[in-house]
Amino acid sequence: MLKPLPKIGILGSGSGSNFASIARAIAETRLHAEIALVLSDNPEAGILKKASALNIPAEALPQSKFRTKLEPEIEALAAEKLIMAGVEWVVLAGYMRLIKAPLLERFPNRVINIHPSLLPAFPGLEAWTQALEAKATVTGCTVHWVDAGMDTGEIIAQAKVHVLESDTPASLHARIQVAEHTLYPATLERLLHPEVHR
Ligand code: GAR
Repeated sequence: MLKPLPKIGILGSGSGSNFASIARAIAETRLHAEIALVLSDNPEAGILKKASALNIPAEALPQSKFRTKLEPEIEALAAEKLIMAGVEWVVLAGYMRLIKAPLLERFPNRVINIHPSLLPAFPGLEAWTQALEAKATVTGCTVHWVDAGMDTGEIIAQAKVHVLESDTPASLHARIQVAEHTLYPATLERLLHPEVHR
């Protein structure tokens, strides 16, 4: 009998290009998973429109009064929705708030993030701008386990991107995103199916 596909829930705040790369990898059978639910802290986020266009359940969370995290009750509601949807893995894709106990305790060792730098370098916002300001010659992206800190969890995989002298923040971020769109689905496939990818 075929094993059921592992169900993932995706949280994002922005345009959703990483979500789209994961959905594409699933459609092309490079990633064996089902996206059971997409949640956003931003009702206007492109990720919600992209998910709805693919008929994937997508919902905005209630408005938060904080900027860097959710109220514990809103995060608990997000966890509840993910559990009700049968989610086993929580995948952050451009989610711009810290994750705290309500989600971490319900999904222990099951929350994964992608960050646009070679962590531990340049945690936090606009990592590509930080790389340019630091005159780094190499930056990239990192897939890591999520803990309650800011981009501090254990590193799972990284991809390098060279910084060009002509780079602007936008051009560097665009090349980092190209790397993200390959690294994230491939890393998820290895994490979700370790028995196949030894
Ligand atoms: C991505 O580059 C992602 O790495 C970054 O936000 C962008 C979201 O783009 N995430 C962070 O900076 C988290 N600290 P997307 O909405 O098109 O996937």
